[in-house]
Amino acid sequence: MFWKTLSFLLFAAPGNAVVRFHCSQLVVQRLDPLVNPGAIPSSHVHQIVGGDAFNATMAPERDLPAESTCTSCQFTEDFSNYWTAVLYFRARNGTYKRVPQLGNNQFEKANGGLTVYYMQDAIYNSQQKSKVKAFQPGFRMFVGDINARSLTDAARFRQLTYVCMDTWTMRAPETMAFPTRKCKEGIMTSLRFPTCWDGKNLDSPDHMSHMSYPESGTFESGGPCPASHPVRTGQVMFEVVWDTKIFNDLEWPEDGSSPFVWSFGDTTGFATHADYVFGWKDDSLQRILDTDCWFNTNCINESRSKVQSVDAMNKCTQKPVVDEDIDSWLEELPGGFQADHGHVKK
Ligand SMILES: *[C@@H]1O[C@H](CO)[C@@H](O)[C@H](O)[C@H]1NC(C)=O
Ligand SMILES: *[C@@H]1O[C@H](CO)[C@@H](O)[C@H](O)[C@H]1NC(C)=O
Ligand SMILES: *[C@@H]1O[C@H](CO)[C@@H](O)[C@H](O)[C@H]1NC(C)=O
Repeated sequence: MFWKTLSFLLFAAPGNAVVRFHCSQLVVQRLDPLVNPGAIPSSHVHQIVGGDAFNATMAPERDLPAESTCTSCQFTEDFSNYWTAVLYFRARNGTYKRVPQLGNNQFEKANGGLTVYYMQDAIYNSQQKSKVKAFQPGFRMFVGDINARSLTDAARFRQLTYVCMDTWTMRAPETMAFPTRKCKEGIMTSLRFPTCWDGKNLDSPDHMSHMSYPESGTFESGGPCPASHPVRTGQVMFEVVWDTKIFNDLEWPEDGSSPFVWSFGDTTGFATHADYVFGWKDDSLQRILDTDCWFNTNCINESRSKVQSVDAMNKCTQKPVVDEDIDSWLEELPGGFQADHGHVKK
C-alpha cells in the first residue's frame, strides 16, 4: 500500500519538499561522539556517513560546514553526520562476520552508507504543505534504546522497523523484530526520528528528551505537537540496506531464529537505534523545506541546491582512528560483546 502510493507519487502527483538522498559510507568504526564523547574506542561498532569533520568529540560549538573538507552525501551543503550500529551474521560455530551495506534503490553505485529523507508531511501525502522548522547548528538527537529486548520496550519508539526484501524495491510489511526468514535481496532498516522540538535545547542528557512525538495521532496524521515541545520539525528518516543475502547459503540457527545480531549483542532487533548531528551549511536545509518541488526531482533545481555525483560521494571517506579488526570471522563482537538473548554485556 505504502509503496504503491509512493510510486504513484513518483510518477504522477505534484508534491512539495520531500527530499530523499543517499550518503555513502564515510567510515565504519567504534566511535560515538554523541553517546560516548571522547571515547576512542566507543562501546560498539557504528557505520557513519556525512561530513568528514566527524570525530570522537562533536561539541555543539563545532562548525561542521567549516571544518569539513567533503561530505559523503549527495547534497554538498550537508555536512551533518548520520549513524547507526552495524549488523553481524552469527555462524553456527559462534563466530561473527560483519554484514556489508548496499547503496539503496537509485543509488546502487554508492559505497554502502544510508539514505536520508526529510519530510514535511507523511511521505504518501503528495501535498507536503506543512511548514516545518529546520534544525539549528549544534542540534543533535538520538532515537531508540540499546537495552530494548522486547516489543514493549521497542514500542515507545513507534517507527524503527525492518523489511525483509524479496525484491529490491519492496518496502512492506515492516516489522519491529529482525525478520527470521531468508530475505532474497537483503534487510532494510528504517529509522524515523521524533518531530516535535522543545524549541530551546540543542541536546539533552539522554539525547532524546528535547524531542517528542506528537501529543496525539502521529506525524503522518498531522498530530499536534505537545505544549512542552511546540516546534514541528521535518521528519528525518534513514533507510539502511544490509546485504544479508550473501549469508543465505550458510547454515542458519536450528531453532529458526535470526542469525543477525547488532554490534552490541542484540539478537532480537528491538534495540535498533540512530544518531543525528545537524550540519547543513547556513540556511540550506530550511531553503529546501520551504521550496515547492517535485519528489522525483528531489527538489534539487527548485531549491537551488548543489549536489554531487555518486563517484564524488564515494570519494569522501575517513581512515578509522580505531585500529582493530571488525571484518574477519570474529570470536567476539568488537568491544567484547557476545550475542545475547535478554541483556547487554556492558
Ligand atoms: C579529531 O580530533 C583529534 C583530536 O582533537 C584531531 O587530532 C583530529 O585531527 C581530528 N580529526 C578530524 C578528522 O577532524
Ligand atoms: C565458522 O563458520 C564460518 C561460516 O561457515 C566459517 O567461514 C568459519 O571459517 C568458521 N570458523 C571456524 C573457526 O571454524
Ligand atoms: C535541473 O537543472 C539542470 C541544469 O540546468 C538540468 O540539466 C536538469 O535537467 C534539471 N533537472 C530537472 C529534474 O529539472
